[in-house]
Parts: sequence; structure tokens; C-alpha cells
Amino acid sequence: PQSLRALGAAINLPIGSALTPDDITKWGSISGGQFSVVTGANAMKWQTVEPNTQGTYDWTDADQLVAFARANHQLVRGHTLLWHNQLPTWLTDGVAAGTITKTQLWSLLEKHIFTELGRYKGKIWQWDVANEFFTDADPSGIDPNNWWVANAGADIIPQAFKWAHQADPNALLFYNDYNITGEDGTNAKSDAVFAWVRQQRDAGVPIHGVGTQAHLDTQYGFDPQRFQSDLERYASIGLKIAITEADVRTFVDGPDTQVPTDSLAQFAQPFEYAAMLSAAVSVPQVISFTVWGWTDSDSWVPSTFSGEGYACIYDVNQQPKQAYYSLQKVLELA
Ligand code: G3I
Repeated sequence: PQSLRALGAAINLPIGSALTPDDITKWGSISGGQFSVVTGANAMKWQTVEPNTQGTYDWTDADQLVAFARANHQLVRGHTLLWHNQLPTWLTDGVAAGTITKTQLWSLLEKHIFTELGRYKGKIWQWDVANEFFTDADPSGIDPNNWWVANAGADIIPQAFKWAHQADPNALLFYNDYNITGEDGTNAKSDAVFAWVRQQRDAGVPIHGVGTQAHLDTQYGFDPQRFQSDLERYASIGLKIAITEADVRTFVDGPDTQVPTDSLAQFAQPFEYAAMLSAAVSVPQVISFTVWGWTDSDSWVPSTFSGEGYACIYDVNQQPKQAYYSLQKVLELA
């Protein structure tokens, strides 16, 4: 059987993964062989690139990612410019102390965007410009308590898209969020994000697509039809779609074994991966399908959700799981 990237290439759908420096240094031949688009799990976030002192940059991880992609003939998704998480402490402390004013915060973001997009100009296919501005608890609109909204005002979001477009006019610019394609069996946040993105696009903001993170959990009651109709809704108004962070977590015995206690999960997981990819394959405006890390030895899930894991398509020994074969099958049949 062929690699995911070869099968995806045959139907013009790049298949991707988030990568950490470990993925590159320890298992680069798998990441390079299976995927044709890569995202830095953390490499391009503000905290990573300007960590300790304002104006002192560390491009080590981002440069490594871009060089790896080039060596393996892969596209790059840039992730992410405007997010409330993983901001440098000098920035959040400065804002909290009042030594960074609202005007200065706008200038700092402008500088951040022009510096990072300038460094990698022409090398990034898609940028996740803005990330996670809606909450599950109150999806009626942009979260007023979001760090950026509270400190810079909601107008900073469209402005970030405008700066990004100026800095790298050929990059496709995305709004990225989770639970916007029926992941948990509801659609309220999905409706809110759809309405906001359409409004921004209609107002002339350079927003080219929506990234649905697609972090599933086998206990949630995932609805494949809704997943597909939510993708189609964006397509119907002329937006592109990227599946940006797909994974399917389950309850596991423990961090060492990483095997589901619930045997149903062993069936649900490959089914849910396959359902997501089938939907992506049937909507032509979906331009990439990315998993959020491909190996269970390097997944974000166990440290975030106590008692859960086994979320990736390869196991802790870098062996393909049923989830991997299910993706392969969907691509073979497409
Ligand atoms: O780099 C430090 C290291 O110096 C320190 O020793 C260590 C101790 O905890 O922490 C390291 O930082 C960790 C960082 O990943 C790099 O490994 C952080 O603690 C940890 O919180 C951070 O987690 C990342 C998470 O975003 C933060 O919210 C995950 O790797 C990353 O996969 C995850 O990705 C997000 C997407 O960006 C947005 N969508 C959700 C997705 C999953 O949370």
C-alpha cells in the first residue's frame, strides 16, 4: 500500500501532520514519507519565536520545520499568529502591569506579524492567522473575555488578517477553531463562527478559509453528516476549508500502555478518522487534511486530558494503527 501522501496526491488532497522537533529529529523518515504538508505544533507561536525578551528572537524550531519541509518537498501551514495561549511572558506581564499600552500592543502585533511572515515569505502555504476566539460555554459571538479582545479590542482580529495579507500576499489566510464541525454533537459554536467569518469576508477582510481543528473524543457522539454539511456550508459561500488538527482521543489504561480500556473505542477511532477524511474528500473546497501529531509518543492529549490518550494514527512504538489503515482505505477508494 502506498503512503498517505502518495494516495492524497493522486486525488489532489495534501495530507499533513503537526510536527514537534522530536518528530523531525527522531522519526523524520516517517514524517517525511507520509505527509505532504506540515505544521509546527509549537514552532511558530509567539512564545517560541520571541520567548524571553522583546526584540530577541529564537527561530531555531521554525527554521528547522521549514528546512525539513523543503528537504521533503512538503508544504507548510503556519500556526498561529493571534491566539490567547503561548504568548511570551514579557508581553502578558507588560500588559498586566500597564507598561504595554493598548496602542503599543497593536504595534507589537504588527511587528510580530511582519517579522515572522517576512522571514518565511513565499514559504508558507496557509497561515492560521486567528485561533480560538469563540468559547463553547457562550458561542453567541467573539468571547469578550478573550485576552486579545479584552486588551486590544475585537478590531485587532480583522487587522491581523490585513497585516498578514500585506506581509505575504500569496499566503492563504485562515480562521481556525475547534468544535465547529459537530465534534461534540452540537452546532451552536459552528453557527456563530460561520456567521462571523461570513461577515468579516463580506466586509473585505482578507480571510480565505476556515480551519476546523477536529479534535474528536470517542465518548462524544460524533456526527459525520453534520461534519460534512458544516464543511459544505463554508464551501457554499466560496471559502476554502482545511482540516487542521484532526485526532480522536479515547480512554486509555495509562500513559505507559496507551491502549483503550473501552474496546468500543478501538472501533470508534478508525471509524471517526475515516468519516472525517471521507467528508473532506467529498468537498472539493477542502484543501488539506492534517492530523495533530501522528504518533502517540508525542501527542498533546495525555497531558491535557487525564486518563485519555491513544489519539493518533501511529502507536507509541511508531507502528501504524487501525486508524492509519482506515485513512489509507478512504484515500484508496476516493
Ligand atoms: O517548552 C516548554 C519546556 O521548556 C518545559 O520544560 C515544558 C514543561 O512543561 O513545557 C514546554 O512547553 C510545553 C509546550 O507545549 C512545548 O512542548 C507546554 O508546557 C505545553 O503546554 C505546550 O502544549 C502545546 C499546547 O498547544 C499549548 O496550548 C502542545 O504541544 C500543542 O500541541 C498544542 O496545540 C494546540 C494548537 O496550537 C491549537 N489547538 C489546540 C492544540 C492542542 O492543545
